[in-house]
Amino acid sequence: MPILNWLTRDEDIRTAQHVPYRLLEEVPDLSAGDGGAGNMLIQGDNLEALKALLPFYAGRVKCIYIDPPYNTGAAFEHYDDNLENSIWLGTIWPRLELLRDLLAEDGSLWVNIDDRQGHYLKVILDEVFGRSRFVANVVWQKRTSRENRKAIGSAHDHILVYAPAGAQDWKKYRNLLPDTDKGYANPDEDPKGPWRSIPFSAQGFRANQMYKITTPTGDVLDPPKGRCWGATEPEFLRLRDIEGRVYFPKNGRGRPRIKKYQFEESGLAPMTWWTAADFGDNQQAKKEILELFNDEDAFDTPKPEKLIERILHIATNPGDLVLDSFLGSGTTMAVAIKTGRRSIGIEMGEHAATYCVPRLRKVIEGEQGGVSKTVGWQGGSGFRFYRLGPPVFDEEGHIRQDIRFPVLAAHVWFSETDRPWDGSGDSPLLGIHDGRAHALLYNGILGDKRPGGGNVLTRATLALIREDIAKLAPDFDGPLTVYGEQSRLTPVTLDRERITFKQTPYDVKARA
Ligand SMILES: C[S@@+](CC[C@H](N)C(=O)[O-])C[C@H]1O[C@@H](n2cnc3c(N)ncnc32)[C@H](O)[C@@H]1O
Repeated sequence: MPILNWLTRDEDIRTAQHVPYRLLEEVPDLSAGDGGAGNMLIQGDNLEALKALLPFYAGRVKCIYIDPPYNTGAAFEHYDDNLENSIWLGTIWPRLELLRDLLAEDGSLWVNIDDRQGHYLKVILDEVFGRSRFVANVVWQKRTSRENRKAIGSAHDHILVYAPAGAQDWKKYRNLLPDTDKGYANPDEDPKGPWRSIPFSAQGFRANQMYKITTPTGDVLDPPKGRCWGATEPEFLRLRDIEGRVYFPKNGRGRPRIKKYQFEESGLAPMTWWTAADFGDNQQAKKEILELFNDEDAFDTPKPEKLIERILHIATNPGDLVLDSFLGSGTTMAVAIKTGRRSIGIEMGEHAATYCVPRLRKVIEGEQGGVSKTVGWQGGSGFRFYRLGPPVFDEEGHIRQDIRFPVLAAHVWFSETDRPWDGSGDSPLLGIHDGRAHALLYNGILGDKRPGGGNVLTRATLALIREDIAKLAPDFDGPLTVYGEQSRLTPVTLDRERITFKQTPYDVKARA
Protein backbone atom coordinates (compact mmCIF):
# COMPACT_ATOMS: atom_id res chain seq x y z
CA MET A 1 0.00 0.00 0.00
CA PRO A 2 1.26 3.53 -0.70
CA ILE A 3 2.85 5.09 2.38
CA LEU A 4 4.01 8.51 3.45
CA ASN A 5 7.72 9.03 3.79
CA TRP A 6 9.57 11.70 5.76
CA LEU A 7 13.11 12.36 6.87
CA THR A 8 13.17 10.42 10.14
CA ARG A 9 10.42 7.89 9.39
CA ASP A 10 12.50 4.71 10.00
CA GLU A 11 13.49 5.90 13.44
CA ASP A 12 10.08 7.37 14.31
CA ILE A 13 8.12 4.21 13.61
CA ARG A 14 10.23 2.37 16.19
CA THR A 15 9.95 5.04 18.88
CA ALA A 16 7.02 3.49 20.75
CA GLN A 17 8.97 0.24 21.31
CA HIS A 18 11.80 2.05 23.05
CA VAL A 19 9.75 4.21 25.36
CA PRO A 20 10.35 3.03 28.94
CA TYR A 21 7.48 1.79 31.06
CA ARG A 22 7.09 4.25 33.92
CA LEU A 23 5.10 4.18 37.08
CA LEU A 24 2.19 6.56 37.58
CA GLU A 25 2.36 8.25 40.97
CA GLU A 26 -0.71 9.81 42.50
CA VAL A 27 -0.55 13.36 43.83
CA PRO A 28 -3.35 13.20 46.43
CA ASP A 29 -3.40 16.98 47.00
CA LEU A 30 -4.46 17.51 43.40
CA SER A 31 -7.03 14.69 43.34
CA ALA A 32 -10.63 15.51 44.21
CA GLY A 33 -13.99 13.92 45.00
CA ASP A 34 -14.64 10.21 44.76
CA GLY A 35 -11.25 8.60 44.02
CA GLY A 36 -12.98 5.37 43.10
CA ALA A 37 -14.92 6.93 40.22
CA GLY A 38 -12.34 5.63 37.72
CA ASN A 39 -11.18 9.01 36.36
CA MET A 40 -7.44 9.70 35.98
CA LEU A 41 -5.85 13.03 35.15
CA ILE A 42 -2.20 12.49 34.27
CA GLN A 43 0.34 15.26 33.89
CA GLY A 44 3.20 14.29 31.59
CA ASP A 45 4.27 13.60 28.04
CA ASN A 46 1.63 11.36 26.56
CA LEU A 47 4.21 9.11 24.91
CA GLU A 48 5.35 7.88 28.31
CA ALA A 49 1.95 8.15 29.94
CA LEU A 50 0.25 6.04 27.25
CA LYS A 51 2.96 3.41 27.59
CA ALA A 52 2.46 3.39 31.36
CA LEU A 53 -1.26 2.73 30.81
CA LEU A 54 -0.78 -0.21 28.41
CA PRO A 55 -0.33 -3.06 30.94
CA PHE A 56 -3.52 -1.95 32.68
CA TYR A 57 -5.76 -0.66 29.88
CA ALA A 58 -4.71 -2.30 26.57
CA GLY A 59 -7.84 -3.02 24.54
CA ARG A 60 -10.09 -1.42 27.17
CA VAL A 61 -10.73 2.12 25.94
CA LYS A 62 -14.07 2.59 24.19
CA CYS A 63 -13.46 6.04 22.74
CA ILE A 64 -10.33 8.08 22.19
CA TYR A 65 -10.73 11.73 21.26
CA ILE A 66 -7.60 13.74 20.57
CA ASP A 67 -7.03 17.28 19.47
CA PRO A 68 -3.26 17.44 18.99
CA PRO A 69 -1.34 20.62 18.16
CA TYR A 70 -2.04 21.34 14.51
CA ASN A 71 1.44 22.39 13.36
CA THR A 72 0.03 25.76 12.38
CA GLY A 73 3.16 27.74 13.12
CA ALA A 74 1.20 30.10 15.35
CA ALA A 75 2.66 30.91 18.74
CA PHE A 76 0.35 29.54 21.38
CA GLU A 77 0.88 30.27 24.98
CA HIS A 78 0.58 26.71 26.19
CA TYR A 79 2.53 24.65 23.68
CA ASP A 80 5.06 24.94 20.94
CA ASP A 81 3.03 24.36 17.81
CA ASN A 82 5.79 25.39 15.48
CA LEU A 83 6.90 21.93 14.58
CA GLU A 84 8.13 21.17 11.09
CA ASN A 85 5.94 18.74 9.23
CA SER A 86 8.29 15.81 9.57
CA ILE A 87 8.81 16.45 13.26
CA TRP A 88 5.04 16.61 13.62
CA LEU A 89 4.61 13.29 11.79
CA GLY A 90 7.38 11.71 13.85
CA THR A 91 5.74 12.95 17.03
CA ILE A 92 2.25 11.76 16.24
CA TRP A 93 3.15 8.32 14.79
CA PRO A 94 4.26 6.53 17.99
CA ARG A 95 1.39 8.07 19.94
CA LEU A 96 -1.10 6.76 17.39
CA GLU A 97 0.42 3.28 17.73
CA LEU A 98 0.02 3.33 21.51
CA LEU A 99 -3.51 4.71 21.20
CA ARG A 100 -4.39 1.91 18.76
CA ASP A 101 -3.20 -0.69 21.32
CA LEU A 102 -5.35 0.88 24.04
CA LEU A 103 -8.51 0.90 21.94
CA ALA A 104 -11.21 -1.75 22.50
CA GLU A 105 -12.37 -3.94 19.62
CA ASP A 106 -15.74 -2.15 19.64
CA GLY A 107 -14.11 1.25 20.23
CA SER A 108 -13.32 4.23 18.03
CA LEU A 109 -10.68 6.92 17.64
CA TRP A 110 -11.61 10.52 16.80
CA VAL A 111 -8.83 12.92 15.78
CA ASN A 112 -9.52 16.63 15.49
CA ILE A 113 -7.27 18.32 12.93
CA ASP A 114 -7.19 21.29 10.53
CA ASP A 115 -7.07 21.16 6.73
CA ARG A 116 -3.37 21.92 6.61
CA GLN A 117 -2.31 18.80 8.52
CA GLY A 118 -5.39 16.61 8.09
CA HIS A 119 -4.41 14.94 4.82
CA TYR A 120 -0.96 13.91 6.04
CA LEU A 121 -2.59 12.56 9.16
CA LYS A 122 -5.14 10.55 7.15
CA VAL A 123 -2.36 8.74 5.28
CA ILE A 124 -0.48 7.74 8.42
CA LEU A 125 -3.68 6.79 10.24
CA ASP A 126 -4.50 4.51 7.30
CA GLU A 127 -1.12 2.86 7.78
CA VAL A 128 -1.30 2.55 11.59
CA PHE A 129 -4.94 1.38 11.71
CA GLY A 130 -5.49 -0.08 8.23
CA ARG A 131 -7.56 1.56 5.50
CA SER A 132 -10.51 -0.71 6.22
CA ARG A 133 -10.76 0.78 9.72
CA PHE A 134 -11.40 4.29 8.40
CA VAL A 135 -14.98 5.24 9.27
CA ALA A 136 -15.40 8.86 8.19
CA ASN A 137 -13.94 12.30 7.85
CA VAL A 138 -16.34 14.51 9.77
CA VAL A 139 -16.35 18.17 8.72
CA TRP A 140 -17.02 20.27 11.79
CA GLN A 141 -17.99 23.91 11.30
CA LYS A 142 -15.72 25.55 13.84
CA ARG A 143 -16.62 29.15 13.00
CA THR A 144 -19.51 30.99 11.44
CA SER A 145 -18.09 34.52 11.37
CA ARG A 146 -16.13 35.62 8.32
CA GLU A 147 -12.34 35.62 8.54
CA ASN A 148 -10.67 38.33 6.47
CA ARG A 149 -7.08 37.55 7.47
CA LYS A 150 -6.83 34.71 4.96
CA ALA A 151 -7.43 34.46 1.20
CA ILE A 152 -10.05 31.84 1.96
CA GLY A 153 -11.24 31.87 5.54
CA SER A 154 -11.04 28.62 7.44
CA ALA A 155 -14.47 27.64 8.75
CA HIS A 156 -14.04 23.93 9.48
CA ASP A 157 -11.87 21.30 11.10
CA HIS A 158 -11.65 17.64 10.17
CA ILE A 159 -12.44 14.91 12.66
CA LEU A 160 -11.01 11.64 11.36
CA VAL A 161 -12.77 8.59 12.75
CA TYR A 162 -11.30 5.06 12.87
CA ALA A 163 -12.69 1.89 14.42
CA PRO A 164 -10.78 -1.40 14.92
CA ALA A 165 -13.98 -3.30 14.07
CA GLY A 166 -14.02 -1.70 10.61
CA ALA A 167 -16.48 0.90 9.37
CA GLN A 168 -19.33 -1.51 8.63
CA ASP A 169 -19.13 -3.60 11.81
CA TRP A 170 -18.69 -0.57 14.04
CA LYS A 171 -22.20 0.46 12.97
CA LYS A 172 -23.53 -2.08 15.48
CA TYR A 173 -21.70 -0.37 18.34
CA ARG A 174 -22.37 3.28 17.62
CA ASN A 175 -25.43 5.16 18.91
CA LEU A 176 -27.84 7.20 16.84
CA LEU A 177 -28.19 10.93 17.41
CA PRO A 178 -31.41 12.30 18.86
CA ASP A 179 -33.57 14.04 16.30
CA THR A 180 -33.03 17.60 17.50
CA ASP A 181 -35.26 19.00 14.74
CA LYS A 182 -38.17 17.60 16.71
CA GLY A 183 -37.42 20.07 19.48
CA TYR A 184 -37.12 17.86 22.56
CA ALA A 185 -36.98 19.71 25.88
CA ASN A 186 -37.66 19.01 29.52
CA PRO A 187 -39.42 22.07 30.96
CA ASP A 188 -41.10 20.08 33.76
CA GLU A 189 -37.91 18.12 34.68
CA ASP A 190 -39.57 14.84 33.75
CA PRO A 191 -37.33 12.05 35.13
CA LYS A 192 -37.75 10.16 31.84
CA GLY A 193 -35.78 12.92 30.09
CA PRO A 194 -36.44 15.34 27.24
CA TRP A 195 -39.72 15.07 25.37
CA ARG A 196 -41.83 16.72 22.69
CA SER A 197 -45.61 16.69 22.57
CA ILE A 198 -48.20 15.86 19.94
CA PRO A 199 -51.91 16.80 20.03
CA PHE A 200 -54.21 14.29 21.75
CA SER A 201 -56.85 14.41 19.02
CA ALA A 202 -57.66 12.65 15.77
CA GLN A 203 -59.54 13.59 12.66
CA GLY A 204 -63.21 12.56 12.31
CA PHE A 205 -65.84 11.26 14.66
CA ARG A 206 -65.49 8.11 16.77
CA ALA A 207 -68.26 7.78 19.31
CA ASN A 208 -66.09 6.26 22.07
CA GLN A 209 -63.54 9.08 21.68
CA MET A 210 -66.03 11.91 22.18
CA TYR A 211 -65.95 12.45 25.97
CA LYS A 212 -65.18 15.49 28.17
CA ILE A 213 -61.73 16.15 29.62
CA THR A 214 -61.17 18.35 32.67
CA THR A 215 -57.92 20.33 32.63
CA PRO A 216 -55.78 20.87 35.77
CA THR A 217 -57.23 24.41 35.96
CA GLY A 218 -60.78 22.98 36.09
CA ASP A 219 -61.90 23.85 32.55
CA VAL A 220 -64.01 21.18 30.89
CA LEU A 221 -63.06 20.58 27.25
CA ASP A 222 -64.68 18.88 24.26
CA PRO A 223 -62.54 17.61 21.37
CA PRO A 224 -61.57 20.31 18.82
CA LYS A 225 -64.15 21.00 16.11
CA GLY A 226 -64.38 18.23 13.50
CA ARG A 227 -62.10 15.94 15.56
CA CYS A 228 -62.32 13.39 18.37
CA TRP A 229 -59.84 12.73 21.22
CA GLY A 230 -56.76 10.63 20.40
CA ALA A 231 -57.94 7.54 22.34
CA THR A 232 -60.82 6.18 24.40
CA GLU A 233 -61.43 7.56 27.90
CA PRO A 234 -59.93 4.56 29.79
CA GLU A 235 -56.81 4.83 27.60
CA PHE A 236 -56.66 8.58 28.25
CA LEU A 237 -56.85 7.95 32.02
CA ARG A 238 -54.10 5.33 31.79
CA LEU A 239 -51.85 7.72 29.84
CA ARG A 240 -52.55 10.51 32.33
CA ASP A 241 -52.52 8.70 35.67
CA ILE A 242 -50.26 5.70 35.15
CA GLU A 243 -47.82 6.79 32.46
CA GLY A 244 -47.80 10.51 33.32
CA ARG A 245 -47.72 11.31 29.59
CA VAL A 246 -50.51 13.85 29.31
CA TYR A 247 -49.40 17.46 29.13
CA PHE A 248 -51.73 20.45 29.29
CA PRO A 249 -50.02 23.52 27.75
CA LYS A 250 -50.81 27.17 28.58
CA ASN A 251 -50.21 26.58 32.29
CA GLY A 252 -52.70 23.72 32.46
CA ARG A 253 -55.46 25.48 30.49
CA GLY A 254 -54.75 24.20 26.97
CA ARG A 255 -55.96 21.11 25.16
CA PRO A 256 -54.21 17.91 26.25
CA ARG A 257 -51.09 16.75 24.38
CA ILE A 258 -49.15 13.49 24.63
CA LYS A 259 -45.47 13.38 25.55
CA LYS A 260 -43.13 11.51 23.19
CA TYR A 261 -39.84 10.90 24.97
CA GLN A 262 -36.59 11.33 23.12
CA PHE A 263 -35.25 7.98 24.35
CA GLU A 264 -38.13 6.01 22.83
CA GLU A 265 -38.07 7.58 19.39
CA SER A 266 -35.69 6.25 16.77
CA GLY A 267 -32.73 8.54 16.22
CA LEU A 268 -30.74 9.80 13.30
CA ALA A 269 -27.66 8.17 11.82
CA PRO A 270 -24.73 10.57 12.25
CA MET A 271 -23.62 12.36 9.07
CA THR A 272 -20.21 13.80 8.17
CA TRP A 273 -21.40 17.46 8.12
CA TRP A 274 -21.50 18.89 11.64
CA THR A 275 -22.87 22.40 11.89
CA ALA A 276 -21.96 24.92 14.57
CA ALA A 277 -25.64 25.11 15.53
CA ASP A 278 -25.81 21.40 16.38
CA PHE A 279 -22.25 20.72 17.53
CA GLY A 280 -21.01 24.03 18.93
CA ASP A 281 -18.11 26.12 17.58
CA ASN A 282 -14.90 27.76 18.78
CA GLN A 283 -16.76 30.89 19.81
CA GLN A 284 -18.94 28.87 22.12
CA ALA A 285 -15.88 27.11 23.56
CA LYS A 286 -14.33 30.51 24.35
CA LYS A 287 -17.55 31.53 26.08
CA GLU A 288 -17.46 28.40 28.19
CA ILE A 289 -13.90 29.21 29.28
CA LEU A 290 -14.96 32.75 30.13
CA GLU A 291 -17.85 31.48 32.26
CA LEU A 292 -15.59 29.03 34.07
CA PHE A 293 -12.69 31.33 34.85
CA ASN A 294 -13.88 34.82 34.08
CA ASP A 295 -10.93 35.06 31.69
CA GLU A 296 -11.39 34.33 27.98
CA ASP A 297 -7.66 33.87 27.52
CA ALA A 298 -7.24 31.30 30.27
CA PHE A 299 -6.76 28.69 27.52
CA ASP A 300 -6.16 29.33 23.81
CA THR A 301 -7.63 26.41 21.91
CA PRO A 302 -10.53 24.81 23.77
CA LYS A 303 -13.23 22.77 22.08
CA PRO A 304 -16.93 23.28 22.91
CA GLU A 305 -18.47 20.80 25.35
CA LYS A 306 -21.31 20.15 22.90
CA LEU A 307 -18.90 18.78 20.28
CA ILE A 308 -17.40 16.32 22.76
CA GLU A 309 -20.83 15.41 24.14
CA ARG A 310 -21.99 14.47 20.62
CA ILE A 311 -18.89 12.33 20.03
CA LEU A 312 -19.24 10.54 23.37
CA HIS A 313 -22.95 10.05 22.71
CA ILE A 314 -22.25 8.37 19.35
CA ALA A 315 -19.23 6.33 20.47
CA THR A 316 -19.91 5.30 24.08
CA ASN A 317 -22.48 4.42 26.73
CA PRO A 318 -22.47 5.41 30.40
CA GLY A 319 -19.71 3.57 32.28
CA ASP A 320 -17.45 3.21 29.20
CA LEU A 321 -13.85 4.40 29.32
CA VAL A 322 -12.86 7.52 27.36
CA LEU A 323 -9.31 8.75 26.75
CA ASP A 324 -7.93 12.12 25.64
CA SER A 325 -4.14 12.26 25.53
CA PHE A 326 -3.98 15.94 24.46
CA LEU A 327 -6.33 17.12 27.17
CA GLY A 328 -5.72 20.89 26.91
CA SER A 329 -8.28 22.64 29.10
CA GLY A 330 -9.90 19.35 30.16
CA THR A 331 -13.06 19.50 28.01
CA THR A 332 -13.15 15.75 27.29
CA MET A 333 -12.86 14.77 30.95
CA ALA A 334 -15.40 17.42 32.00
CA VAL A 335 -17.98 16.10 29.50
CA ALA A 336 -17.16 12.44 30.22
CA ILE A 337 -17.78 13.01 33.94
CA LYS A 338 -21.01 14.96 33.29
CA THR A 339 -22.32 12.14 31.09
CA GLY A 340 -21.38 9.26 33.40
CA ARG A 341 -18.42 7.91 31.45
CA ARG A 342 -15.07 7.01 33.05
CA SER A 343 -12.16 8.98 31.64
CA ILE A 344 -8.41 9.29 31.42
CA GLY A 345 -6.88 12.62 30.42
CA ILE A 346 -3.21 13.29 29.73
CA GLU A 347 -1.76 16.79 29.51
CA MET A 348 1.90 17.71 29.65
CA GLY A 349 1.49 21.43 30.30
CA GLU A 350 1.47 23.00 33.75
CA HIS A 351 -2.19 23.79 33.02
CA ALA A 352 -2.96 20.15 33.87
CA ALA A 353 -2.65 21.27 37.48
CA THR A 354 -3.48 24.96 37.20
CA TYR A 355 -6.43 24.72 34.83
CA CYS A 356 -7.76 21.17 34.41
CA VAL A 357 -7.79 20.50 38.16
CA PRO A 358 -9.86 23.59 39.09
CA ARG A 359 -12.16 23.00 36.09
CA LEU A 360 -12.82 19.39 37.09
CA ARG A 361 -13.28 20.41 40.73
CA LYS A 362 -16.01 22.78 39.56
CA VAL A 363 -17.54 19.95 37.52
CA ILE A 364 -17.76 17.63 40.50
CA GLU A 365 -19.26 20.47 42.51
CA GLY A 366 -22.01 20.64 39.83
CA GLU A 367 -21.11 23.68 37.66
CA GLN A 368 -23.94 24.51 35.24
CA GLY A 369 -22.03 25.72 32.15
CA GLY A 370 -21.36 23.84 28.89
CA VAL A 371 -23.61 20.79 28.49
CA SER A 372 -24.58 20.56 32.18
CA LYS A 373 -28.18 21.61 31.72
CA THR A 374 -28.77 19.50 28.60
CA VAL A 375 -27.49 16.34 30.30
CA GLY A 376 -29.03 17.14 33.71
CA TRP A 377 -25.65 17.32 35.51
CA GLN A 378 -25.94 17.93 39.25
CA GLY A 379 -22.38 17.19 40.40
CA GLY A 380 -20.67 14.17 41.97
CA SER A 381 -17.92 11.76 40.85
CA GLY A 382 -14.21 12.62 41.27
CA PHE A 383 -10.74 12.04 39.85
CA ARG A 384 -7.21 11.11 40.84
CA PHE A 385 -4.26 13.22 39.68
CA TYR A 386 -1.02 11.47 38.66
CA ARG A 387 2.46 12.39 37.52
CA LEU A 388 4.93 10.10 35.81
CA GLY A 389 7.21 8.26 38.22
CA PRO A 390 10.48 6.36 37.66
CA PRO A 391 10.85 3.64 35.02
CA VAL A 392 9.79 0.10 35.97
CA PHE A 393 12.97 -1.36 34.42
CA ASP A 394 16.45 0.17 34.67
CA GLU A 395 18.73 0.69 31.69
CA GLU A 396 19.95 -2.93 31.74
CA GLY A 397 16.34 -4.11 31.81
CA HIS A 398 16.44 -5.09 35.52
CA ILE A 399 13.37 -4.53 37.64
CA ARG A 400 13.82 -1.60 39.94
CA GLN A 401 14.18 -2.63 43.57
CA ASP A 402 11.15 -0.76 44.84
CA ILE A 403 8.68 -2.08 42.27
CA ARG A 404 5.75 -3.66 44.09
CA PHE A 405 4.18 -6.98 43.17
CA PRO A 406 1.03 -5.61 41.40
CA VAL A 407 3.11 -3.45 39.05
CA LEU A 408 5.42 -6.28 38.02
CA ALA A 409 2.44 -8.65 37.84
CA ALA A 410 0.71 -6.31 35.35
CA HIS A 411 3.86 -6.18 33.21
CA VAL A 412 4.46 -9.94 33.29
CA TRP A 413 0.80 -10.67 32.49
CA PHE A 414 0.73 -8.12 29.68
CA SER A 415 3.98 -9.37 28.13
CA GLU A 416 2.70 -12.97 28.22
CA THR A 417 -0.91 -12.42 27.12
CA ASP A 418 -1.13 -8.99 25.46
CA ARG A 419 -4.03 -8.35 27.82
CA PRO A 420 -4.36 -5.84 30.64
CA TRP A 421 -4.13 -7.30 34.13
CA ASP A 422 -6.85 -6.72 36.68
CA GLY A 423 -5.93 -9.19 39.41
CA SER A 424 -5.93 -8.18 43.03
CA GLY A 425 -2.26 -8.96 43.70
CA ASP A 426 -2.92 -11.25 46.66
CA SER A 427 -1.81 -14.51 45.02
CA PRO A 428 1.23 -15.58 42.99
CA LEU A 429 -1.25 -16.87 40.38
CA LEU A 430 -1.76 -14.06 37.88
CA GLY A 431 -4.48 -15.84 35.95
CA ILE A 432 -5.24 -18.34 33.21
CA HIS A 433 -5.28 -17.24 29.60
CA ASP A 434 -5.82 -19.36 26.48
CA GLY A 435 -5.42 -22.59 28.46
CA ARG A 436 -2.14 -21.58 30.15
CA ALA A 437 -1.71 -20.48 33.78
CA HIS A 438 0.77 -17.72 34.67
CA ALA A 439 2.36 -17.19 38.11
CA LEU A 440 4.86 -14.78 39.60
CA LEU A 441 6.98 -15.32 42.73
CA TYR A 442 8.14 -11.86 43.72
CA ASN A 443 8.48 -9.55 46.68
CA GLY A 444 6.99 -11.74 49.36
CA ILE A 445 3.69 -12.31 47.57
CA LEU A 446 3.27 -15.51 49.55
CA GLY A 447 3.00 -13.48 52.78
CA ASP A 448 2.59 -15.66 55.86
CA LYS A 449 2.65 -18.80 53.76
CA ARG A 450 6.09 -17.89 52.48
CA PRO A 451 8.41 -20.93 52.66
CA GLY A 452 12.19 -20.30 52.84
CA GLY A 453 13.14 -18.50 49.62
CA GLY A 454 9.64 -17.27 48.72
CA ASN A 455 10.73 -15.99 45.33
CA VAL A 456 12.11 -19.41 44.40
CA LEU A 457 10.16 -22.16 42.65
CA THR A 458 10.29 -25.19 44.96
CA ARG A 459 7.89 -28.07 45.59
CA ALA A 460 6.39 -25.98 48.43
CA THR A 461 5.85 -22.79 46.37
CA LEU A 462 4.56 -24.86 43.46
CA ALA A 463 2.01 -26.52 45.79
CA LEU A 464 0.74 -23.05 46.80
CA ILE A 465 0.41 -22.00 43.16
CA ARG A 466 -1.43 -25.25 42.34
CA GLU A 467 -3.80 -24.61 45.26
CA ASP A 468 -4.69 -21.21 43.80
CA ILE A 469 -5.18 -22.71 40.33
CA ALA A 470 -7.54 -25.32 41.79
CA LYS A 471 -9.56 -22.56 43.47
CA LEU A 472 -9.84 -20.57 40.22
CA ALA A 473 -10.38 -23.48 37.80
CA PRO A 474 -10.83 -26.89 39.49
CA ASP A 475 -10.60 -28.79 36.17
CA PHE A 476 -7.52 -27.00 34.87
CA ASP A 477 -4.84 -29.34 33.50
CA GLY A 478 -2.98 -27.01 31.12
CA PRO A 479 0.63 -25.80 31.10
CA LEU A 480 1.98 -23.27 33.63
CA THR A 481 4.53 -20.47 33.30
CA VAL A 482 6.24 -19.41 36.53
CA TYR A 483 8.42 -16.34 36.94
CA GLY A 484 10.77 -16.42 39.95
CA GLU A 485 14.32 -15.74 41.07
CA GLN A 486 15.37 -19.39 40.76
CA SER A 487 13.93 -22.84 40.25
CA ARG A 488 14.94 -25.73 42.48
CA LEU A 489 12.86 -28.19 40.46
CA THR A 490 14.73 -30.53 38.15
CA PRO A 491 14.22 -30.28 34.38
CA VAL A 492 12.46 -33.67 34.55
CA THR A 493 9.95 -32.37 37.13
CA LEU A 494 9.39 -29.15 35.18
CA ASP A 495 8.76 -31.24 32.08
CA ARG A 496 6.42 -33.65 33.83
CA GLU A 497 4.47 -30.77 35.44
CA ARG A 498 4.36 -28.88 32.09
CA ILE A 499 6.04 -25.85 33.68
CA THR A 500 7.99 -23.20 31.79
CA PHE A 501 10.22 -21.43 34.30
CA LYS A 502 11.32 -17.87 33.56
CA GLN A 503 13.82 -16.04 35.67
CA THR A 504 13.19 -12.59 37.08
CA PRO A 505 14.50 -10.08 36.26
CA TYR A 506 16.19 -11.41 33.12
CA ASP A 507 13.20 -13.05 31.46
CA VAL A 508 10.78 -10.24 32.27
CA LYS A 509 10.71 -8.55 28.95
CA ALA A 510 8.94 -5.26 28.71
CA ARG A 511 6.63 -5.86 25.75
CA ALA A 512 7.27 -3.35 23.01
C1 LIG B 1 -5.26 21.85 20.95
S1 LIG B 1 -4.93 21.58 22.61
C2 LIG B 1 -6.26 20.56 23.12
C3 LIG B 1 -7.46 21.34 23.49
C4 LIG B 1 -8.57 20.51 24.08
N1 LIG B 1 -9.26 19.72 23.10
C5 LIG B 1 -9.57 21.37 24.84
O1 LIG B 1 -10.78 21.29 24.59
O2 LIG B 1 -9.14 22.15 25.68
C6 LIG B 1 -3.57 20.48 22.61
C7 LIG B 1 -3.01 20.18 23.97
O3 LIG B 1 -2.10 19.10 23.85
C8 LIG B 1 -1.06 19.30 24.78
N2 LIG B 1 0.09 18.50 24.33
C9 LIG B 1 0.89 18.73 23.26
N3 LIG B 1 1.84 17.76 23.17
C10 LIG B 1 1.61 16.91 24.21
C11 LIG B 1 2.27 15.72 24.67
N4 LIG B 1 3.31 15.21 24.02
N5 LIG B 1 1.79 15.11 25.77
C12 LIG B 1 0.70 15.61 26.44
N6 LIG B 1 0.06 16.75 26.06
C13 LIG B 1 0.50 17.38 24.96
C14 LIG B 1 -0.81 20.79 24.74
O4 LIG B 1 -0.15 21.23 25.92
C15 LIG B 1 -2.22 21.33 24.61
O5 LIG B 1 -2.75 21.64 25.86
